[in-house]
Amino acid sequence: MTPNLKSRPRRLRQSEALRSMVRETELNARDFIYPLFVWHGDGRTPITSMPGIDQLSVEESVREAEKAAKLGIPAVILFGLPAEKDPIGLENFAPDGIVQQSIRAIKREIPEIVVVTDVCLCEYTDHGHCGILNSKGGTETHPHLPEGFVLNDPTLDILGKVAISHAECGADIVAPSGMMDGMVSVIRSSLDNAKFESIPIMSYAVKYASAYYGPFRDAADGAPKFGDRKSHQMDPANVKEALREAKLDVDEGADMLMVKPALAYLDVIRTVKNAFLELPMAAYNVSGEYAMVKAAAANGWIDEQKVTLETLLSMKRAGADLIITYHALDAAGWLK
Ligand code: PBG
Ligand code: ZN
Repeated sequence: MTPNLKSRPRRLRQSEALRSMVRETELNARDFIYPLFVWHGDGRTPITSMPGIDQLSVEESVREAEKAAKLGIPAVILFGLPAEKDPIGLENFAPDGIVQQSIRAIKREIPEIVVVTDVCLCEYTDHGHCGILNSKGGTETHPHLPEGFVLNDPTLDILGKVAISHAECGADIVAPSGMMDGMVSVIRSSLDNAKFESIPIMSYAVKYASAYYGPFRDAADGAPKFGDRKSHQMDPANVKEALREAKLDVDEGADMLMVKPALAYLDVIRTVKNAFLELPMAAYNVSGEYAMVKAAAANGWIDEQKVTLETLLSMKRAGADLIITYHALDAAGWLK
């Protein structure tokens, strides 16, 4: 018996040609931003929990950026591992710091690639925190706050210096990731005062206190030596608060927003995108998300290519315009 259905959604799924005509979302190499870890050592050192990703010398960071450019990936984001760590992270804004060297080398050899820099303290401080710590008897003492508390305002001065230092080396976009209140505002005015009014800020506006950063903290040697990041990163239970964070950053002058992590926060990406349609938005497909796919694929439990592309597509469908991803080279290759 023919049920005489008016609507048959399957009519539009009958062939690849038909499916492609009604496809709503498309993944492209130009959506990707590829993260690079730069260190003072020679050559490359594999990061065990992130198969395929290495710690890179300055020279190797250029080679890696070149691979990205050849695949049509428009941008890299740099993370640095300093030679020495100290309480405020001096190498973070040193003219010959590791990230500064890498920016100059990449921009010299591949001027067309967009160099984004992560602006935070945690890879550079000996305590591994994203800011200056309250310390009795130290230069910054706040008697009403606990010992070791991450101080907001003293940290802002440093973030301004780091952003200027990156811009002086030729960085194209600065990306503050420390979730300090007012970070966008202070970085904006620091850059403007130094005549870098044309350098955009991509704010890690909505960044959660997530267990998905584990492998990154090995890669960048940036795990806190004690405590956690809950005094500044967001509670995974909250989404209305994401709108508050995003609005503040937009008002402070952010040119692009970011939600991080991505996969467990697709609802947050959609909510923030709907509220700020006018701003480009990035999603950070973080280290733990990458490690899970790699581990399952290595065991033959999932199809790495299909799962990766489906995952990245889900982030775009949720509203991300750009995706920071360790899969960038592989995914761009598969999409060719
Ligand atoms: C540093 C920073 C982190 C990540 C990006 N920038 C780690 C953290 O906040 O602890 C995580 C990226 C990833 O897991 O891939 N502020
Ligand atoms: Zn940090």
